[in-house]
Amino acid sequence: MRAVDVIIKKRDREELTTEEIQFFIAGYTRGDIPDYQAAAWAMAVLLNGMTPRETTDLTLAMAHSGDVLDLSGVVKIALDKHSTGGVGDKTTLVVLPMVVAAGIPVGKMSGRGLGFSGGTLDKMESIPGYRTDLTTDAFLEQLRSVGIVLTGQSADLAPADGKLYALRDVTGTVPSIPLIASSIMSKKIAAGAQGIVLDVKVGNGAFMQTLDDARVLAELMVTIAERVGRRAIALLSDMNQPLGFAVGNALEVREAIDTLHDGGPADFREHCLMVAAHMLILGGAARNEAEGRALAARTLADGSAWAVFRRLVAAQGGDVAYVDDPSRLPAARLQEPLPAPSDGYLAALHARTVGEAAVVLGAGREKKGDPIDHAVGIVVHKKVGDPVATGEPVLTIHANDPARLAEARAMLAQAVQISAEPVPPLPHFYGVVGA
Ligand code: URA
Repeated sequence: MRAVDVIIKKRDREELTTEEIQFFIAGYTRGDIPDYQAAAWAMAVLLNGMTPRETTDLTLAMAHSGDVLDLSGVVKIALDKHSTGGVGDKTTLVVLPMVVAAGIPVGKMSGRGLGFSGGTLDKMESIPGYRTDLTTDAFLEQLRSVGIVLTGQSADLAPADGKLYALRDVTGTVPSIPLIASSIMSKKIAAGAQGIVLDVKVGNGAFMQTLDDARVLAELMVTIAERVGRRAIALLSDMNQPLGFAVGNALEVREAIDTLHDGGPADFREHCLMVAAHMLILGGAARNEAEGRALAARTLADGSAWAVFRRLVAAQGGDVAYVDDPSRLPAARLQEPLPAPSDGYLAALHARTVGEAAVVLGAGREKKGDPIDHAVGIVVHKKVGDPVATGEPVLTIHANDPARLAEARAMLAQAVQISAEPVPPLPHFYGVVGA
């Protein structure tokens, strides 16, 4: 078999066989197939698509390009969740403790933020001492003994995806639904997940800008899961404005802690309850959404989810004094409100621009490996549809550098739109796929 023939076949819109896909991915992972051929192939896939069968074969080929964790000896069912990325998305920090408090142990490997979208590891590292570099053995041991783990990727999971994703990033081949679906699902499968809740974001602060595209991606990922004997359900959720109020690492940890104390912003709490409910259904602890939500809500009300979060922080070397008293978490020196320019109703708070302003402040990174500032970010005070009065703060900028503050302020002023007429609130969810 020759790589060029596989490229030509996809260029000519033909369906690739399982063997051809395995050959191509194995060859690329080993370095036998060079980047230029993989780039041509990725562009052919972007332009001509793949069938669900081809996408499933691609997912499995990438999942098996490195280690595949088997958690079956440690937990009854390995649950996972995945968000396609967004602004202010600190859901994992609340949902994992809820699910664990409801009786299902969860070990999760998360990622870092890149571009305008934040990452769970960066948020947790706002807590002094918290370690995100557990070995696979330490991961398994903590899952067994503590029942919860939240760390970075330890094992060499889906290296083919790592290599291909970096190539797609610089060849204009990221926005391909089969390539995105196989990329996400290969990592989940390699991490041992048997039941997966996928949180597919839709809107200007998300990969998927339209509901139609988000639904196609969600359906494809659920289909892949079914074809490989896993269970998945996908929520389609809004990402046109930030989730909750806080954007920025320590700010988001504080908001997660408020939520774990049975408070927090209404939209964020609602989001966590939905994700947790569906994890509890997949895990067999709830029969339906209502039961799952009630069980999840109870873990917030009775303090058990908070107790689990504390246990997690302690187990991974974090100083619990900082989460017990979140005012000790890193805080920015400069805090500046952005006032509403007129009376009316908040019509838009452009999520992507808010995320990009957070990167300018130092909360995120432009490229892999850049340092970040855990203290800085943005706290919004209004959601789309809320009434606002002239001069009332729409958001507060938390900065450590006056020049960055000025740049972020100019961007954020563009992110805010006020309408003289009433504006309906944005929905939290647009649907559920695979329930
Ligand atoms: N996230 C991923 O993990 N892969 C993609 O291709 C896109 C988003």
